[in-house]
Amino acid sequence: MPPLLCIANWKANLTPEAETVLARTIQGIMQQSPADNVEIVLTPTFVSLYEIGYEIDHPIVLAGQDCYWEEVGAATGEVSPVALAHLGCKYVLIGHSERRIIFAETNEMVAKKYAVLLKTQKKLGLVPIVCVGETLMERKNGKTREILEVQLSALMKAMPFNKNFQIVIAYEPVWAISTNQHGARKNCDPSDCKEAIGMIKDILHTHSINAVNAIPLVYGGSVDEHNASSYITQGDVSGVLVGSASLHAKRFCAIVHSLNTSI
Ligand code: PGA
Repeated sequence: MPPLLCIANWKANLTPEAETVLARTIQGIMQQSPADNVEIVLTPTFVSLYEIGYEIDHPIVLAGQDCYWEEVGAATGEVSPVALAHLGCKYVLIGHSERRIIFAETNEMVAKKYAVLLKTQKKLGLVPIVCVGETLMERKNGKTREILEVQLSALMKAMPFNKNFQIVIAYEPVWAISTNQHGARKNCDPSDCKEAIGMIKDILHTHSINAVNAIPLVYGGSVDEHNASSYITQGDVSGVLVGSASLHAKRFCAIVHSLNTSI
């Protein structure tokens, strides 16, 4: 069985110094009490990737928070897949709802990033972690499946999938993201997660993707040390994407350890 994924998304919360200390602390804790069933993915800001590359070791790997949709090129302010590969990244997060909402990224833009990562995958080795998920309004209107269908179809149209490609799909319902909640905290119930994961598998099947079971599907949205393992055991996912709780080394490592003992 492949290891579960525990992905820390630090967003734009920390300074490079704080990110380096956090990575070093996580590395130290994991060295003292290893979790052999989990691959840990750290997603710091671009400016910290180089430094953190020197702090981490197996089973911790790096991911970019986004990338440019061409291999390299004239695009001021962007970070290219080539640069991310040279910085030692294994994964690249694309299509996060914050990018879709704050920066108006469309499904087509996400699909272009997806396509460049797959086209260059043999050479650069980068694995896209594609975020999909519905807003609260869409969920209330019963549109979850429709939204997932539109988001996933855009990817498949841009670059037909084949079994030699490696991708990860993250189901991140926008309404469950901790910093996106107005009022009472609301994480996604593991049974709702399971239902959405079933929809994603079904949609991938309709795109003639037979190797669906080989694609890691992870959940993100208010994951913490208390609920993380329930997504593995009841939510039918093979990992979690953690925002706020990943900013604290002890809490994040507690999540890693809870995943480790959940299988
Ligand atoms: P959260 O963020 O864990 O703080 O809800 C998750 C994400 O945005 O990836």
